[in-house]
Amino acid sequence: MQGRENWGSRFGFIMAAAGSAVGLGNIWRFPYTTGENGGGAFLLIYLAIIFGFGLAVVMAEMLIGRTAQKNPVGAFKQLGGKAWPLVGYMGVLTGFIITSFYVVVAGWCLAYVGFMATGSVATADPDVLGGTFTDFISSTTSPLVYALAFMGIVVAVLLGGIASGIERANKILMPALFVLLLLLVARSVTLDGAAEGLRFYLVPDWSKVTLETFREAVAQAFFSISLGMGTMITYGSYLSLKENIPTSAATVVLLDSSVAILAGLMIIPAVFAAGLNPSAGPGLTFITLPAVFASMPAGTFFGVLFFVLLSIAALTSAVSILEPMISYFVDEHGTARRKAVLLICGLCFALGIPASLSLGVLGDFKLFGLNWFDLMDKLATSFMLPMGGLCVAIFTGWFWGPQAVAALSNNGALTQRWAPAWLFIVRFVAPLGIGWILVSNLIG
Ligand code: TRP
Repeated sequence: MQGRENWGSRFGFIMAAAGSAVGLGNIWRFPYTTGENGGGAFLLIYLAIIFGFGLAVVMAEMLIGRTAQKNPVGAFKQLGGKAWPLVGYMGVLTGFIITSFYVVVAGWCLAYVGFMATGSVATADPDVLGGTFTDFISSTTSPLVYALAFMGIVVAVLLGGIASGIERANKILMPALFVLLLLLVARSVTLDGAAEGLRFYLVPDWSKVTLETFREAVAQAFFSISLGMGTMITYGSYLSLKENIPTSAATVVLLDSSVAILAGLMIIPAVFAAGLNPSAGPGLTFITLPAVFASMPAGTFFGVLFFVLLSIAALTSAVSILEPMISYFVDEHGTARRKAVLLICGLCFALGIPASLSLGVLGDFKLFGLNWFDLMDKLATSFMLPMGGLCVAIFTGWFWGPQAVAALSNNGALTQRWAPAWLFIVRFVAPLGIGWILVSNLIG
């Protein structure tokens, strides 16, 4: 029997996991969510959640996958038995939901590569940029064509397999994106009028903090570090039993939060410089960035490069949302990988159609006051991901307990002096923190 495919190297795994974490969540979702939730205080609460318990639950997910060497459903079957595989099934379902709106936004990024290249957004006028964005996302066919093109690329990468497909792409492109971000931050913070944006972003205004701030911060944190649906379980399952999980997890989470912080520094000062409203919502990145490019030398070049790299960051994340579902069908049902990839991606694209149309022709169709796009985002990030994370924490802390600690230290090969602190977090801090938010979300 052939062994399970493994990552080619330690660096490769970290880059792939960071590639999963760093995506539209950081560059599209984080800046506008921060803008809608008051700026600096949101940033601090978000970071407190990531490092207070997010990181510990990422470690738990990776550990579950690495120990079982299986997809989320199989891993819970093996380590927990009984009803635990339900957590894995929920993850598979969450993956469908997230992918459906993720490919739509990724399609916008692809479209913006073209818009930048052809000069159709070569202006610093926020009204024009806002109009272009809204016209585009609310039109019926073209966003879908771009989403389909994006899905086609995802399929190609997924068919290439783990080491050659996902890993190779991540190793080169992630560092490139990081460097470009630094450059754009430098431009954004030196724009006229940027100072007010810096203040908004970096000086916390606690009077703006409500329960809603915490809810949004948890949702954003889970989405950004790819937590709560088994992505990290699946990526961990391709990891050899010798790897040091705490170090890898900490590196990934640090990289992810650095990119989010930088993305905020890139967008928010520019928002104020352009006289835009920071709570303008999901269009913020797409409306603001072209204005930054218009105000810098070789702006077209950097603009094209940026949206290419952003599309690739979205690609490596999308791949990681789909991989748990694919490995589930391959491991548990013996489906051929090729068939699983084509079926799942086809279905996800089909679910993306109403998501895209709900920003235009289907805009009046609302449930709980939300259009389809927002409903899917809310359902996944406010309910399903926290629920998944809660179950992972409870499973690891209370059912797997001492064995989990042993597994974390590679059965004694690594000394983990702070393992008791980790266990305390997955037992108490994470369940209470997540549980509180989930209950508050449920009672509205
Ligand atoms: N973290 C990714 C981003 O920020 C999205 C993502 C990838 C994700 N895999 C995930 C979100 C698993 C939730 C769960 O864009």
